[in-house]
Amino acid sequence: MNSQLVIGLVRSKKIALLALTLLLLPFSAQALETVSAKLCDFKTPLPERAFACNAALARTINLGNIFDSVREGMQGAVYQDEFVEMPKKAGFTAVRLAIRWDARAGYQDPYPIQPQFFERIDGVVKAAKANGLAVIIDMHHFVGMTMFPDTEVPRFVGVWKQVAEHYKNEPATVVFEVMNEPHGKLNPEKWQKAFDAVLPVIRASNPDRTLIVGGSEWNSAASLENIELPASDKNIIGTFHFYEPFYLTHQGAEWVSGSTAWLGTKWTGDADDMVLINTTLDRVVNWGKAYNRPVFLGEFGVYSKADHPSRLAWTRAVRKAAEERNISWAYWELMSSFGILDPRTMMWREDLLRTLIDAKP
Ligand code: BGC
Repeated sequence: MNSQLVIGLVRSKKIALLALTLLLLPFSAQALETVSAKLCDFKTPLPERAFACNAALARTINLGNIFDSVREGMQGAVYQDEFVEMPKKAGFTAVRLAIRWDARAGYQDPYPIQPQFFERIDGVVKAAKANGLAVIIDMHHFVGMTMFPDTEVPRFVGVWKQVAEHYKNEPATVVFEVMNEPHGKLNPEKWQKAFDAVLPVIRASNPDRTLIVGGSEWNSAASLENIELPASDKNIIGTFHFYEPFYLTHQGAEWVSGSTAWLGTKWTGDADDMVLINTTLDRVVNWGKAYNRPVFLGEFGVYSKADHPSRLAWTRAVRKAAEERNISWAYWELMSSFGILDPRTMMWREDLLRTLIDAKP
């Protein structure tokens, strides 16, 4: 064989290998690699679409303490279109809308959601889409479910039926998150039951939409291993929240009893500090590989009363650790008590913003 022929054969073998890898890619653990967000489209087959839609959530900002309040404005902020325009300009790719549908729905079957509230959320979805952002429609603070999971499931399902039907014509870049942070009486077993009941109802009107689902115990990383997702539904992103160590991220938080004692806790990001971040994130990556599902870190952040340098160091470290593992992320949150935007001046808290987005786009 002459050398030209050998080179040719080696090349064609390489091409064959590449073609085989590409063919197998969506069905192997390699699919966890970032897929182009542009493929987040109903025409893209599964499971690539779920990975592509997760890529569209690469850098998400939570719009929290706005629609997850019982009444908008109760926690300070009233939504304005700048809340989506500014994140887009800063380099975010998506918004997670934390929405308390529960507080806007009736108590008798079919549990009607106030039409004016739908209109309000429609306006946000429209503005986000106009700015080229992906959107997560999240079921936040469904209090009845965490208190009375044995009797509240029909209402939970009834509320989801309306939300799912209302947004069924939205593009694939509008993703539904089934339940924020199951906890309290909604234990792993009861959350599984509720999820099994709601999934077919959402799928009836949205057979092709990507969903986000997490485990119980406040969407802890470990609980992701407990929820059973149907193997036949490849259109589900697994989610988890990360606020560890909690005495660092929630120091001085008024809603966490005993947290005043944690004030002054520092975090430098030394090797010991990093162990918790790395082991937790590796754990969810392993879950994603085992089930060939994309993974999304739906909330992380440090309360504003925390030691500021520690806040910056932790936020940057978590964000980077997530990106290194192709985990899309959503910072908690835009302009309230964890906020990266100062609502009085409508200016970025530049140092905090730069922990998430390295440079000005
Ligand atoms: C809750 C917020 C809280 C945040 C951090 C979110 O899931 O909805 O009320 O501020 O977690 O604790």
